[in-house]
Order: sequence, then C-alpha cells, then structure tokens
Amino acid sequence: MSHLRIVGGARLVGRVRVTGAKNSVLKLMAAALLVEGTTTLTEVPDILDVEIMAELLRRMGCDVVHDSEAGSVAVTVPAQLNHRADYDLVRRMRASICVLGPLLARCGEADVAMPGGDNIGSRGLDMHVDGLERLGAEVVSEHGYLIAKRNGPLRGTHIPLEFPSVGATETILMAAITAAGTTVIDNAAREPEIVDICTMLLAMGADIEGVGTSTLTITGVDSLRPVSHRTVSDRIVAGTWAVAAAVTQGDILIENTRAEHLEIALDKLVSAGATVLTGPDSIRVTMDRRPKSVDVVTLPYPGFPTDLQPQFITLNAIADGAAMVTENLFEARFRFVNELARLGADVRTDGHHALVRGKPMLSGAPVEATDIRAGASLVIAGLVAEGVTMVHEVHHIDRGYAGFVGQLQSLGADIQRLSL
Ligand code: EPU
Repeated sequence: MSHLRIVGGARLVGRVRVTGAKNSVLKLMAAALLVEGTTTLTEVPDILDVEIMAELLRRMGCDVVHDSEAGSVAVTVPAQLNHRADYDLVRRMRASICVLGPLLARCGEADVAMPGGDNIGSRGLDMHVDGLERLGAEVVSEHGYLIAKRNGPLRGTHIPLEFPSVGATETILMAAITAAGTTVIDNAAREPEIVDICTMLLAMGADIEGVGTSTLTITGVDSLRPVSHRTVSDRIVAGTWAVAAAVTQGDILIENTRAEHLEIALDKLVSAGATVLTGPDSIRVTMDRRPKSVDVVTLPYPGFPTDLQPQFITLNAIADGAAMVTENLFEARFRFVNELARLGADVRTDGHHALVRGKPMLSGAPVEATDIRAGASLVIAGLVAEGVTMVHEVHHIDRGYAGFVGQLQSLGADIQRLSL
C-alpha cells in the first residue's frame, strides 16, 4: 500500500516528456490478436494497465515481452488462441473488454468476463453487444461472462451508434476487419486513439475509409500481417501537465505531444489567463497569476474531454470567480468533489452540473483517489494546498500516469511516495 505525501506551495517549472496513450496502447495490444506473429508497439507507457493487458494476452497463449526501459511491447500471437478472458484480470481493468471483438473475429468465439475498472458510473456494454449481433454474432451473458459466437464469418452491415462510444466503435471495428463484405459504422467515435488503432489496422492490411470522421467504412479482408507501430501520444497526460502548470502558476514545456488533440482544453487555459505556446510536437504552458474561472462542458471528441474534467474542477477550485462544469459522459465522475472538499474546495453538484466557487487557498488534508483522473487532480490540488496533503489509493494514479512522482519532483514539487 503506498500513499503520496505532498507539501503544497511549489511552482512547477521545467520540462516533461509524454509517452504513448494508455487508452490507445491497450487497444493496440488487443488488435495484435487479429493476426498470428509478432506485433511490436513503441512509446508504450510504463503503467499497471499495460501489465494487466500483457497478462491477459499471455493467458490466451500469447508471448508478451514488455521492455519498460525501451518503452516497447512485443506481442507474439500463436496460431491457436485460448478465447477466454478471466474475471480476476478483467475486473482490474475495464479496458479488457477490447479483446471481445478481435477474439470473436479470430477464434469464432469469445468468453470475456464483464469488466469492473474505474468507479465512474454504470458504463454499459449494450452498444458493443448490439454491434456484434448486427454483424451476425450470437451474444449471451452467463455467470458474469459475455459469450459471443459466430457461425461462419461475421457479415458486414450498417451499424448506427446511438452515441459515439469509444469502446463500442473499437469492438465493432476490430470485429469487422475480417468480416465478409462492408461494414459502415455511423456516429463512430473520432478520438485520436481511434485514429491510432485505424492507422495500425491499415498498416496490417485492413481496408478502412473515413478514418478520423464519424463514418467508418470497413471492407473485410482475408488476411492481415503483423506490424510495428508507434503509439499516439497521451493527450490526457499532456493536458494534466498543462493544468498543473496553470494551477501552480508555473512554466512547463510538455514534449512529444500534439496540441491539435487538445484544442478546446488549451483554449480554456488561455481563457483562465495562461500563456500557451505550441510547437509541432510540444506545448508550453506558463501562468503568472491566479487563474480565472472557466466553464467546461464535456463531450465526445473533438469536444472537451471527460478525462480532463476533474483537473479543471481543481483549477476552478482555486480560481478567481465561479464556474459551471457539466459532465455528459460519466455521471459518477463528480464523486471526487467530496475529496476535493476535504481540501476546502467549494463545489456543489446537481446531477450533471457542478458549480465551483474559487477560493484563494486550499488547505492540506488526507484524501482518497477515486479513479485515475480524480487521483491526478487531487495531487494537483495538494500542490497548491497550504500544508501537507496525503493522497491514498494511489494505485488508481499508477494505472494511468507513468513515473508521475519522479516527474513532479523534477519540476520542483515536494512530493514523496510512502509505503506503509
Ligand atoms: N456507453 C453505453 N453503452 C455502451 C458503451 C458506452 O451506455 O455500450 C456509455 C458509457 O456508459 C458512457 C459513455 O457511453 O456513459 C461513454 O463511453 P465510451 O464507450 O465512449 O467510453 P469507454 O470506451 O468506456 C474510454 C476511455 C475513458 C474515457 C472514455 C471517453 C479507455 C480504456 N477508456 O472509455 O478513459 O473517459 O473513453 O473518452 O479507452 C480514463 O482514461 O480515465 C478513462 C476513463
């Protein structure tokens, strides 16, 4: 059990390098299942979720070599796969559901435990199931497992999604790559991580049109080849550093990132009073005053990302003025405001809305990370709270932020990991 001890008051100054996106690399590892042979991924973040996914794939018969120093993962997929994803691993990471589509496509059957994961709301799977059924699969839920089967090849069809779900788009995409005929996904998610998986699938030999738009047209192919692929940079980690710079009135150069993936969030920081300079693969955020409050409404990409919503609540908690934050994706994401309130923040929630009245100062206290992003946001709050903040349940942060504590120390934060 480890905890973070933070002494507030530091201005974060320096540079950080962002690696590949958690929410891409896990899906890229799952996509490797589509083809026999060795798929190699680079820019892989050294986080717990990559290890969990590696273990899941090993249990299916794959050989997975994760070189955390080089930031690479090599997945060697055998001719015959075990098509079961066990509950003990799936419960630790909701993203495990992304093996459903490729396993069904490759093996004709997939038995995947219903996922657990973050404590951020109900997070249904109905669109995943509906999409696979439209492709001709039979899907039942038995004893806590989703069991999907196909008799013969899946058949391409038209699939309109009622919401541009990231996970459902990925499940359907991976199942459709080798289906017979053409699949059209309407209202598909357009996140950079979806573009990343499409880019890898195209290199593997897939036929996908409309990459980066809300209509993906996939024509099934008979064979694929394993590839090497560089994971897209983690825009949420970059956005977290950008907020940390603004909140601590610091100056951070964020390297290996793409400003165009964070357009609205960076605009919000400018509205809050920050100076944002962007280069081809870097973002520099400088702040020399107390931030001004900014309203935020989360929406699917290219809207404001839900994964940066807690960080912006923290920013608003110390800002000059009051702001309304509206969460449209995960209802339970506001649970973390109870923890922020322990640091003295003034946040009132009503359904999808949180009214945040900024205070000049927060006050250090023990708090608990309730999910990955909430954890990072509590750390940022601790950096500007007077006195000592202890953040518990750090394992949530470890799932998404590689080397977080070391990077914070290098930027001048007074933070330590304590093992009790
Ligand atoms: N939804 C359904 N039915 C479905 C699928 C989704 O009702 O079949 C609902 C969910 O309950 C939710 C909304 O649709 O209210 C959005 O879900 P989506 O499928 O888009 O999200 P996800 O694939 O479960 C990924 C990321 C999340 C990120 C969201 C939105 C991964 C592993 N997770 O989740 O990341 O918040 O997209 O961008 O890719 C995080 O990194 O902290 C995180 C939670």
